[in-house]
Amino acid sequence: MRIDVVHGPNLNLLGEREPEVYGRTTLAELDARLQALGKELGADVRCFQSNHEGALIDYLQDHRTVADAFILNPAGYTHTSVALRDAVAAVQKPVVEVHLSNTQARETFRKSSLIAAVAAGRIEGFGVGGYELALRALVDRLAAP
Ligand code: DQA
Repeated sequence: MRIDVVHGPNLNLLGEREPEVYGRTTLAELDARLQALGKELGADVRCFQSNHEGALIDYLQDHRTVADAFILNPAGYTHTSVALRDAVAAVQKPVVEVHLSNTQARETFRKSSLIAAVAAGRIEGFGVGGYELALRALVDRLAAP
């Protein structure tokens, strides 16, 4: 079972970027945690981050046949990118949308997600733990007969 984790723009600065909102865990630490949990659960976890919309779309397309599922934090593109939404719909694999912060409790422009309607599910507001919840949920879903 292979699950790919895709991080959108500015998440490379995790740990130093608005730590009061996004926490102090770095992206490298988060990815290491997910890979360790994946090992425990029997899933091969690969991680990718880009600040570029097209690179995120290319990653989803290029890995749609090798990954069984994706965890995606579209970051700022959540609220703006029709193209990323179309890519999520196109891959025909379950994609869980994850946000570190509770977007519904923040600025109005963050309340709408273009991704939500095409995602298999959505987890937000639990910091880096949300990615672990998403990983457990996907492993359960993929293991179900
Ligand atoms: C975010 C929420 C987005 O609104 C924001 O643009 C981000 C991070 C989150 O993980 O809470 O970059 O996706």
